[in-house]
Amino acid sequence: MGDKGFSIAGPIFFFASFIVTLRIAHGDLSYNIQEEMKRDSVIGNIAKDLGLDLRTLSSRKARIDFDGSRKRYCDINMRTGDLITSERIDRESLCGKKPSCVVQVDMVLQNPLDLHRVSVHIQDVNDNSPKFRENLIEMEIRESTEKGSRFSIEQAHDADIGQNAVQRYELQKNDIFILAADSNKVELVLENKLDRERQKEMNLLLTALDGGSPQRSGSVVIRVTVLDANDNAPVFSQAVYKASLPENSPLDTPVIKVSATDADEGVNGDVTYDLGHISDDNMNVFTIEHKTGEIRVTGVIDFEDRSSFEIPVQAKDGLGLKSYAKVTIEITDINDNAPAVSLESLSNSIPENVSPGTEVGIINVQDRDSENNGQVRCSIQHGVPFKLVPSIKNYYSLVTTGQLDRELVSDYNITITATDEGSPPLSSTKSVQLSVADINDNPPVFDEQSYSAYVSENNKPGSTLCSVSARDPDWRQNGTVVYSLLAGEVNGAPVSSYLSVNGDTGVIHAVRSFDYEQFRSFKVYVMARDNGSPPLSSNVTVSVFISDVNDNSPQILYPSPEGNSFMTELVPKAAHGGSLVSKVIAVDADSGQNAWLSYHIVKSTEPGLFTIGVHSGEIRTQRDISDSDSMKQNLVVAVKDNGQPSLSATCSMYLLISDNLAEVPELKDLSYNESNSKLTSYLIIALVSVSTFFLTFIIIILGLRFCRRRKPRLLFDGAVAIPSGYLPPNYADVDGTGTLRSTYNYDAYLTTGSRTSDFKFVTSYNDNTLPADQTLKKSSDFADPFEDLDTSLET
Ligand SMILES: *[C@@H]1O[C@H](CO)[C@@H](O)[C@H](O)[C@H]1NC(C)=O
Ligand SMILES: *[C@@H]1O[C@H](CO)[C@@H](O)[C@H](O)[C@H]1NC(C)=O
Ligand SMILES: *[C@@H]1O[C@H](CO)[C@@H](O)[C@H](O)[C@H]1NC(C)=O
Repeated sequence: MGDKGFSIAGPIFFFASFIVTLRIAHGDLSYNIQEEMKRDSVIGNIAKDLGLDLRTLSSRKARIDFDGSRKRYCDINMRTGDLITSERIDRESLCGKKPSCVVQVDMVLQNPLDLHRVSVHIQDVNDNSPKFRENLIEMEIRESTEKGSRFSIEQAHDADIGQNAVQRYELQKNDIFILAADSNKVELVLENKLDRERQKEMNLLLTALDGGSPQRSGSVVIRVTVLDANDNAPVFSQAVYKASLPENSPLDTPVIKVSATDADEGVNGDVTYDLGHISDDNMNVFTIEHKTGEIRVTGVIDFEDRSSFEIPVQAKDGLGLKSYAKVTIEITDINDNAPAVSLESLSNSIPENVSPGTEVGIINVQDRDSENNGQVRCSIQHGVPFKLVPSIKNYYSLVTTGQLDRELVSDYNITITATDEGSPPLSSTKSVQLSVADINDNPPVFDEQSYSAYVSENNKPGSTLCSVSARDPDWRQNGTVVYSLLAGEVNGAPVSSYLSVNGDTGVIHAVRSFDYEQFRSFKVYVMARDNGSPPLSSNVTVSVFISDVNDNSPQILYPSPEGNSFMTELVPKAAHGGSLVSKVIAVDADSGQNAWLSYHIVKSTEPGLFTIGVHSGEIRTQRDISDSDSMKQNLVVAVKDNGQPSLSATCSMYLLISDNLAEVPELKDLSYNESNSKLTSYLIIALVSVSTFFLTFIIIILGLRFCRRRKPRLLFDGAVAIPSGYLPPNYADVDGTGTLRSTYNYDAYLTTGSRTSDFKFVTSYNDNTLPADQTLKKSSDFADPFEDLDTSLET
């Protein structure tokens, strides 16, 4: 008694039981009924079981009492005496899980009060299905959960007891979970790993079964939501992205867009992009937009620096799982580099004598662009004697194509143009200065083919005659001209004793005074030499023409000069007027007017008897000789030349008018000579005869000669002057014109050199101004006769 399950009603029930027990020790009834009987179901016939008849029942007012306020489960049917259920009895609500469920009912009879305790044992019926607390069990399991993990499920409840209670569970078949259940617990065991990305939610039906018959079951849906674990790294759509980009692309140019997906969700699936590690020099060239994965240009793209980029890109999800791909960016070339021309070597200066084809420089051409953009063509301007010859690779040789001449062009400005084959092509130019070095290839050249200098004789030593000049276009010392006289002789003396030339200026000076009568012209060679090594030279003739000055008085050859002569001409008494009596012969070493002699009688014994030919010097009788005329006649004859001022000489002529020398006893008186010996007289006579003969002979010969000449140039009528026809034939060429200068028209004169008392020819027109002596020997024509005379005179 006093079961705790009934703890609330227990004390009362206990007290009542105590009273009743005393009186109905024998009368307790017990029934078994199944729960959930319909109302008014008969539990048992209590009247009968107590031995009471129906009347008694009603008379004694039988009634069913329950302890306290307890529900009335039973009642008594007074008409039949049956104990009936007055309502449905649910064992589970009445007794819960107690193994036996007894409802104690008291049947109270009055008159006398009698109490019978009736125990109604309520038998369990499988009237309850196992039941889960909820219809849906929601579970969240992280997908990363390890296999074998257990997840408890609240057990199902079955109000029934015993066999009717939950006996087992069944889990809907699936690949992930298995069920582990015993009487104490129900657990889901993770048999395979979850993958949210494959299945992010599953509904499992868990069924609890009891053991009743018929079996009852209750089920619950277990909704398993797979929680994401960041178990998926982002995945790029391609392992390698390829893009191509022209160089010099402006900033912000999109290059390519990479994309990666992450199967995870939420933060775990939030992909951000980044560039992986790239070398320092490529930093800042590209950036990637973190959210979109778009790669853009942020730096300078120079194909020539780098033609391709390989950039690792990284995709990262929110919790840091990463994956990588590669972006290969090929840079395409743009013709953005002009060719660069550089001089590898260049001759500082090229000797002008280099042969065509000589390499004078090496040029290198670089174009940083590639392919056609880097193909370069090189050229130089036209009109220079150079060309470019392609050599290995980008090298060109600058070679000469022709002969150089520094004197024509000394510097070249060569423009080298390099053009690439890009589109549009780029080009650049380079100027190269080349200078041509001098070679001593030009001899000095005189301004004139020959020079002539005219100088009057008796010049002052040191006077300037003329100047020569020569030009040499070469450079510096190669073109510096130095003048000098070529060694030679003039009249047997070295030229340097006649002339000197100023080495620098080319001015020619006379070293000594010239004497026209000694020579009239001479030639020297002046050499102009440059200072090159070896030197080049050229020479020129300088003809020096000495012009006459009236510096010689006429020289009277016959008769002997005054005071020295005792010559006497015989004049026949019978001489008629106009007869040639004698002739004054004079010469003048000068020439031309200076030698143009005129004869005058300045004094005579018998004026009017004799005349003298002004030019011929012939003394003629002017009238017939008369007896009254003195036998001895004395004439003083002046010979004047025509120079300015004129010079003159005088002589005395003794004339003896007689037919016979013997008739002239006074003759001796005429002589001043101390040696008045007989021998002397004979000698004089012989001399006079020889002279006369000689003169006649000369005149005849000369006359013959002149007659043979077409143009006899007689200076004097019948004079002894030697006509120009006898001059050496080259005389006429003295000044190269073929025309004789007037001053030279009178060329050769007989003279008695004052120094030598000899007959001498001064033949200065000979080129080499040979001394007269030599001329005489050479000109055998008419020297021979003189030779005799010479000797005879000398003796
Ligand atoms: C060479 O030519 C360049 C360009 O044509 C010019 O600038 C330079 O003055 C020239 N030099 C000479 C020495 O002529
Ligand atoms: C002169 O010419 C020679 C070769 O003939 C050369 O070597 C030298 O350099 C030249 N002198 C000058 C100043 O140019
Ligand atoms: C002077 O030059 C000419 C050629 O110009 C040459 O024939 C001659 O031999 C030279 N004379 C001397 C003396 O050098």
